[in-house]
Amino acid sequence: MTSAHSRVSFSGIKPSGEVHLGNYIGAVKQWVTFQENMKPGDVLIFPIVDLHAITVPFEPLELRERLVDLVCWLMASGLDPKKVIMFVQSENPDHPYLAWLFNCITPMGWLERMTQYKDKARVQGQRVSVGLFDYPSLMAADILLYDTHDVPVGEDQKQHVELARNIAERFNRLYGQTFQVPNVVLKQEGARLMSLQDPTKKMSKSDEDKAGCILLKDDADTIRQKIKRAVTDSGNEIHAGKDKPALTNLMVIYSEFSGKSLQEIEALYQGKGYNEFKLDLAEIVVEGFAPVQEKYRALKKDQAAVGRALSDGLKNARAISSEKIKQVQKAMGLEK
Ligand code: TYM
Repeated sequence: MTSAHSRVSFSGIKPSGEVHLGNYIGAVKQWVTFQENMKPGDVLIFPIVDLHAITVPFEPLELRERLVDLVCWLMASGLDPKKVIMFVQSENPDHPYLAWLFNCITPMGWLERMTQYKDKARVQGQRVSVGLFDYPSLMAADILLYDTHDVPVGEDQKQHVELARNIAERFNRLYGQTFQVPNVVLKQEGARLMSLQDPTKKMSKSDEDKAGCILLKDDADTIRQKIKRAVTDSGNEIHAGKDKPALTNLMVIYSEFSGKSLQEIEALYQGKGYNEFKLDLAEIVVEGFAPVQEKYRALKKDQAAVGRALSDGLKNARAISSEKIKQVQKAMGLEK
C-alpha cells in the first residue's frame, strides 16, 4: 500500500521498436530526474507495457527480447530498480481486469476522439484492432491502479492522460470516491522531439525515414551522420523560434545534453553558422550516450540483474494494485 502522504508517479514505455532520442528526452530522462528528486515515501512506477505493444502487428519471437533489452536501456539511463518499481505489465493481471471495468463506463465517443487512434486507424483501415481502439482504457487502468498523482510523458500522450482523468472522475461520480485524479507532467522543452528529416513530424520508432530518428544504440559515426544530414531552416544564424522549427529542435537536443538554456546556446553561437553548431551537437550527443551505451552493454551480460529487477518490481506493484482492485470491486458490487 502507498501511505497517505506518499506521492506516486507512473509512466510506461512499449517494448516495440528501438528506444530513440524522443523517448529518452521526452520521457526516460524525466523519470531519472523524478528519481533524483524523490522524497521519502514517494513511489515511482515505470512498467514495460507489452499489452500496449501488441495492439499493432508484432513478432512474438521478438517481444520478450525487446522487453529485456528495454529494461537494460532504462537501467543504463539511470533508473535504479532499488528505488523505482519496474515490471512487465502483462505479468500483473490487475491491469487488463481494471481496463475491462473501465470499458463498461467509458463512452465510445471518448475513445473515438483520441487522435493517436484516428491517425493509426487511417493508416490501418479495416485491419485496425479493437485493442488499439481500447488502448487508452488500458492506459487509464495502468495509471489509476496505483493512485497516481503525476504522469511524466511526452506531449503525444497528453490526451490519453486527460482521458484517464475523465475516467477517474466518472468512476468516482458513479460509484463513490475511489481513484486519485492524475496530472500530466510535460517537459517545457523536449516534450515533442521532432524528426531530424521533417520538423513537422514527431520523432518516432515507426518512422520510415530512419535518418530522422536517433536511436540509443546508434554508434558514434551513425549519430554524426544523422546530425550532419539533419534538415535546417533558411538563414544561417543560430536562434530558436517558430520561424526555425528544424534548428530549434536541434537546439533542444543540445540543451538537454549540455544543460545550457536555448538563450545560452544562442549567445554561444553568435556569429557562427549551422555547420559549426551541428558538429558540436554531434559530439555532445556522442559523449552523452557513451556512458549509457557502456552500461547497457554490461547489463546485457547480466541478465540475472534484469530478472531480479522485474520480479521485485512485480511483487511491489501487485502489493499496491491488488488492494486497489479490492476497493474497486467493493465500490461496483463485484466483491464476494
Ligand atoms: P511509447 O513507448 O510509445 O513512448 C514512451 C514515452 O516516450 C514519449 N515519446 C516522446 N517524447 C518526446 N518526443 C517524441 N518524439 C516522443 N516519442 C515518444 C512518449 O510520449 C512516452 O511518454 N502510451 C504510452 C505507454 C503507456 C503509458 C501508460 C504512459 C502505457 N500506459 C501509462 C504513461 C502512463 C506510449 O506512448 O509509450
